[in-house]
Amino acid sequence: VFFSDHWRNIEPERLSRYEEIFQFRPDQEPILDGLELFSGCHVLDFGCGPGFLAEEIAERLTALQGSVTAVDLNKEFIARATQRAADLKLENIHYQHTADGMVPLPDNSVDRVLCKNVLEYVPQLQTQLAEYLRVIKPGGRVLIIDSDWGFVLVEPWGKSVTDAFFDAAGAAFKEPMIGRRLSGALAESGFTDVRVSISAGADLTGRGIGVLKNMASYILQFGTMPEDRVTALLSDLEAAVADGQYLFVLPQFYVSAIKAR
Ligand SMILES: C[S@@+](CC[C@H](N)C(=O)[O-])C[C@H]1O[C@@H](n2cnc3c(N)ncnc32)[C@H](O)[C@@H]1O
Repeated sequence: VFFSDHWRNIEPERLSRYEEIFQFRPDQEPILDGLELFSGCHVLDFGCGPGFLAEEIAERLTALQGSVTAVDLNKEFIARATQRAADLKLENIHYQHTADGMVPLPDNSVDRVLCKNVLEYVPQLQTQLAEYLRVIKPGGRVLIIDSDWGFVLVEPWGKSVTDAFFDAAGAAFKEPMIGRRLSGALAESGFTDVRVSISAGADLTGRGIGVLKNMASYILQFGTMPEDRVTALLSDLEAAVADGQYLFVLPQFYVSAIKAR
């Protein structure tokens, strides 16, 4: 299934792009605030990817005697992140591969579950949320951050071209419009105190073009848009950065909920 398989096997060029895209950045500070880390806190980062965010959390938890378990479907991410943690002498982080969405931890064992830009790819949303509910301690919190590919601005493309582009890439996701579904899904799975906020930065410099290039590579694999059209759309973006006409807004849904005591 493409939406899982393209994470299981990542070609070197795309892997390098992810290592660039998913670096920890100061504008991700609200994620750490939302976690409300405390002394002895155990955090699960589900779908940790290259691991930069998990690493940042582990660094902050060092002084608090807290720890991080970080899992991902991609073995190469896990191997590289494990090596980096060893190089950094970070002893409170443990990376583990998961092939099936299961978390290698006992029931009621973590205080926080963080899941950033992952749930759009999981085969069964409710099964995945049930697994988070299983491992979170009563009173613990889940924080999910995700996009919604029906809620994106790309200029100079305009709305109809942007919609056509993301429709053409749709098979890359199990649930492309995950953002709007998260609060309802958490309520349905038994979490309480569900809260949603939306954060939208504006990219004017072309930093987000890597995301659009990944989408373009999926579209070419699916054959859902002619290659010369895809190439022209990407060139339009590069030109637009140069002449100040580029704008990319990809709002992020921040959805948190509590496991009842
Ligand atoms: C867009 S990346 C986000 C990485 C990281 N959370 C971040 O924001 O920096 C999506 C990650 O989810 C992982 N993933 C996708 N489906 C998964 C699944 N069913 N179980 C575990 N991880 C999965 C991918 O391997 C990839 O590392």
